[in-house]
Amino acid sequence: MKFGDIDVARIGLGTNRLTKTPGNVAFIRAAVAAGVQMIDTAHLYTGGQSEETIGAALSPIPDGCIVATKGGFGGAGRGRTEVLGAEIEQSLRALRTDSIYLYYLHRVDPQTPIEESLGAIKEYRDRGKIRHVGVSNVDIDQIERARRVVPIAAVQNHYSLSERESEEVVDYCAGEDIAFVPYFPLRGTGGGPLPGIAERHHATPQQIALAWLLRRSPAMLPIPGTLSLEHLKENVAASKIELTDAEFEALR
Ligand SMILES: NC(=O)c1ccc[n+]([C@@H]2O[C@H](COP(=O)([O-])OP(=O)(O)OC[C@H]3O[C@@H](n4cnc5c(N)ncnc54)[C@H](OP(=O)(O)O)[C@@H]3O)[C@@H](O)[C@H]2O)c1
Repeated sequence: MKFGDIDVARIGLGTNRLTKTPGNVAFIRAAVAAGVQMIDTAHLYTGGQSEETIGAALSPIPDGCIVATKGGFGGAGRGRTEVLGAEIEQSLRALRTDSIYLYYLHRVDPQTPIEESLGAIKEYRDRGKIRHVGVSNVDIDQIERARRVVPIAAVQNHYSLSERESEEVVDYCAGEDIAFVPYFPLRGTGGGPLPGIAERHHATPQQIALAWLLRRSPAMLPIPGTLSLEHLKENVAASKIELTDAEFEALR
């Protein structure tokens, strides 16, 4: 699918358990070599080690590779202009880059208007330090408020076979040409018709869960988290699995 000026593979990588070890630096390079183009991190992940590992592995970030990060997590006050500004500066340093391709507001601060938080991010976008802006853990009303401040290119919410609260957000994003990035995409890959369908496709239940998400909406870009290159390759390969209408509905 198209994201900004990049033709991006529809399975990305989540890195919220990534610690800074030589093995993990090599893992991030191997992930890109295996075809991952959307690497998802955040200021808060592993106390900053996730961003640092990605920076160490990829600097300079190769063309066609999107490193997405987030800030403003942690509750009251975390979405204030000065707090977000400091987090963006830290992310730029940790990722060893002059410009972050996709930057999300991680959570809406309960005490700071979303307009103020997005205004802070927009300032960095206007200076070329951020290319595209996203919002995370939001409903449609919050997305629309955010869009009145700055164009929104991606929405990241909890969504999977077993978590469907964001159904309307998924459809809204598809209609508005916004990428929908489901987090925890592999939750709920236990039972029901899943194992049988997986067996029929000579695939794993995790692969079928990802194939279902991709089929659910053209806007969908899941970011399964893994520290295993074998799992990562399986996840990338899930984009080739085509479910039948009956399989899709049975899983729905
Ligand atoms: N925006 C937010 O508020 C928010 C919140 C939470 C998470 N996130 C993002 O979403 C990403 C995904 O979430 P997550 O990693 O917590 O959950 P997840 O992707 O639903 O599941 C990750 C789990 O599945 C396993 N796994 C991955 N691929 C597999 C495969 N092919 N076969 C079998 N097991 C597999 C992983 O273990 P192995 O390491 O053994 O593969 C890990 O235990 C995070 O990394 C983070 O970037 C965002």
